[in-house]
This record gives sequence, structure tokens and C-alpha cells, in this order.
Amino acid sequence: MYLGLDLGTSGVKALLIDAGQKIIGSGHASLDVSRPHPGWSEQNPADWIRACETAIAELKASHPKELAAVKGIGLSGHMHGATLLDAGDQVLRPCILWNDTRSHAEAAALDADPRFRQLTGNIVFPGFTAPKLAWVKNNEPSVFAKVAKVLLPKDFLRLWLTGEHISEMSDSAGTSWLDVGKRRWSPELLAATSLDERQMPSLVEGTEKAGALRAELAASWGIASGTPVAGGAGDNAASACGMGTVGAGHAFVSLGTSGVLFAANASYLPNPASAVHTFCHALPNTWHQMGVILSATDSLNWLSEISGKKAGELTAELGETLKAPSGVSFLPYLSGERTPHNDSVIRGSFTGLAHESGRAVLTQAVLEGVAFAFRDSLEALKTAGTILTRVTAIGGGSRSRYWLKAIATALQVPVDIPADGDFGAAFGAARLGLIAAIGADPLAVCTAPRTDATIEPDVPLGGAYADAYQRYRALYPAIKGAMA
Ligand code: XUL
Repeated sequence: MYLGLDLGTSGVKALLIDAGQKIIGSGHASLDVSRPHPGWSEQNPADWIRACETAIAELKASHPKELAAVKGIGLSGHMHGATLLDAGDQVLRPCILWNDTRSHAEAAALDADPRFRQLTGNIVFPGFTAPKLAWVKNNEPSVFAKVAKVLLPKDFLRLWLTGEHISEMSDSAGTSWLDVGKRRWSPELLAATSLDERQMPSLVEGTEKAGALRAELAASWGIASGTPVAGGAGDNAASACGMGTVGAGHAFVSLGTSGVLFAANASYLPNPASAVHTFCHALPNTWHQMGVILSATDSLNWLSEISGKKAGELTAELGETLKAPSGVSFLPYLSGERTPHNDSVIRGSFTGLAHESGRAVLTQAVLEGVAFAFRDSLEALKTAGTILTRVTAIGGGSRSRYWLKAIATALQVPVDIPADGDFGAAFGAARLGLIAAIGADPLAVCTAPRTDATIEPDVPLGGAYADAYQRYRALYPAIKGAMA
């Protein structure tokens, strides 16, 4: 048995697979995000540990024997978060998350230093880790002075699980401190934020062993002490391992809290100007590109909260037949946007509202707005040299057929739906746990799931969608101007 632990923004998932990669069982625990100021987004690392314990307790209650047979553990987690520890490994402040934009001024200042784009292959986005440390240095100097280690969220879980400070390439690529082409920390970039390599975890590949389960936790879960924990991956690279998106030409669209259009690459293809992210993959010597939109299901959840209807009820009101865009447009920039705008100040909007614009029209506009944001990412990937001809859908939002039809039509590429199963980040993490534990060939393990159905772009509505996309494109500069 192998255990995948995924620390998601909205909850922790523990997934058990057997040696043949069949899913045996899972446990889950929810997490909240705290937003103490506009643009801030934080979580308490102690809550991650509690959620992890709850998820594993659920698994232990339903599958005690199988859990006891675990031979390898893999980790995955939301990326970029700054978890700051003192010399005694005590957490210094709440973790500043991937969708927190408070450090936009610090990010712009670091991004203006050409070494960052040169060595990391990426824009220094406000959500990345380095500018957050620059913000802490400027605003909480007594905290900054005590920082002995900076860990990414899933690597904080590893510290709890194993007692070790270790990270891996895919997640570390999102810090703005990794030399992404050479797969090692850049002392130069660390120095530019008044840090050095001693404050960073050591680095392995996602498929390598990176610590062993502590005796105390092993005893309480009934797992063998010393069970290896794999390097694992940031949640997007972990999902890619789960989906078999490991070779050039393979791509997925992820409808989670964030939205990601992810393409695997055989080599390092940086193109920071496109606002595409170019990161190390979890497999040795491979890289990937992705367009990232900050509020995907988060946009629908926002509408759900203010309308008092569950997200599933909102999408159910639309039925399954794609409708022509109504003239109401939605920009999903609730926490600013990464690809293609790199704009942390912009905010979302509805335009074109009329007396007859009821709840269903707003839902439709939200789904279309997110679909058009993915189209922006598709265009950005094209500029970065990656042409996608089909994508596979994953993430909670992909349960809505309507949304997938809107995405296929907005992108003008077929969207594959994997056969029933759970091929997300926790599954990818479990696969990495298996690879590290037995030294299996990563490509033989990370295969693609069977496709259950394919959603083709809607031909009759293609023109109306193209027009609506042009309207959507024109709105960003207009709204930006109005907000200035
Ligand atoms: C990727 C990113 C998000 C988080 C969310 O760059 O910020 O996709 O990993 O889980």
C-alpha cells in the first residue's frame, strides 16, 4: 500500500492505493482561508497538521489493515506559501498563501532585477515566496530576524512527519529562489532577499526518498516506523503525475480553487514575458509550463456565497446544453490575476447587466469568464512555444459538464474526461510515494487514465463564443483604466 497526502487550499486529502495503483480508500478534512485584510490570504500551519491527523484517522477507521501495510508516502500541497520557522522549528506567523497579493510592491522590485527572470525563468509574481519574505522584512522585521528556515506548505508537513527539512524541485521552482534550469538554489537570488542557503531546506527530486516516518506517528497510525516519504511535488506537478501528464504534448486543465492550464515539456522552455509559469516537473530532468488563474472554482464559490445557493445548485440551473453568451461578462479577478496580466491590483467585474439578468445568467457569465481566462492562458502558452491540441479536465469544477463544454468551446480544443476515479494531486503523490519506495520507473508508473468521454467544442456556438471572448479581452484594459 502507498499513501498520498495532499494539502489543498480547501482541505487535506489522504489517499491509499495498492501496489497495482488501485484506489483503496481515502480520508478528508476541510481547511479555511483567513483574509484579515483585502488581498491577504493566510492559513495556520497547525491547522494543516490537525487536518492531516483527521484525514488519516478517517482512513484508519475505514481501512486499518491496509493503512498498516503502507510502504511509502508521497506529499503534495498548494504551492508558494511562506511557512517561516525559528531556530527551534516553531512557526513564526501564519503562512502567507499562493493567492495573497500583499507583496506586490516587493515583487515588482525583485522582478526589476534582471537576475530573477534569467535564473528562475519566471516573473516574480506577488504570490511567489521570495517577495513575501521581502514583505516580512519590511513590515515585520522582528519576525524576519528570527527566520531560521523557510518551508513550503507540504514541506512543513514533511517536517512534522519525518523531522527533516527537505523540499523538491517542482514546488521549489515557485519560490523565485531556484535556478530552475540547473535545479538548485541560487545563492545570488537568496542574497537579493537577505537570505542564504542555510535558511532553505535541502533539495531532492520528487521521485526520491526524502525522510522517513517518525516512530511516534508511525505507532499512532499503525504504519511501520521509518516508512519512506518521497520528495513529492507541488499540487500541480503532483496532479500531472496522477494524470500521466509527464511527456511533451500532454496537457490538463484543472478547475480547483485556482485554475491551471498545464503542459509537460521535455526541456526547460522559459518565457517569462508571456506570464506563463515554467517550473521543474516532479520527475528528474523534466519541466513544465502552466498558465495560472487565481480564482476558478473560487469565483463560483463567491457567487454561491452571495446568492445563498450551493455551487452545484447554481450549475444545475443551467442544464447541460451550452447557451450562447448572454451579453453579461464576468472577469474572474477576485484576487487579481497571474496569467496573462500579472496584476495583483485588478479586481473582478460583471458588465452588461440588465433587468432580466437573473441568477442563472450570472452563473453562466462566471463559468464563461473562467473559460475565457483559460483561453488567455492557452494564448500565453502559444507565445511560450506550446501548442495544445487537447486537454484532460480535473478538479472539483470539472464535475460540471456545462463548464467543460464552455471551456472546450472557448479553447477550441476537445476536453477529455477521465474514467471514473480520483487522478488528482493525492493520487499523484501516492504514485511518487510508490516510485520512491521501490525505485520504480516513473514513466511506467505515471500513466494516463482511460478517457471516459470527450467534450468537443460546440460548433454552432463557436462564433458567439469567439465574439464574447473578444468582448472579454477588451474589458481588462477598460476596467484597469477605470480602477486607476
Ligand atoms: C500555482 C498556484 C496554485 C496553487 C494552488 O502556481 O499558485 O495553483 O498551487 O493550489
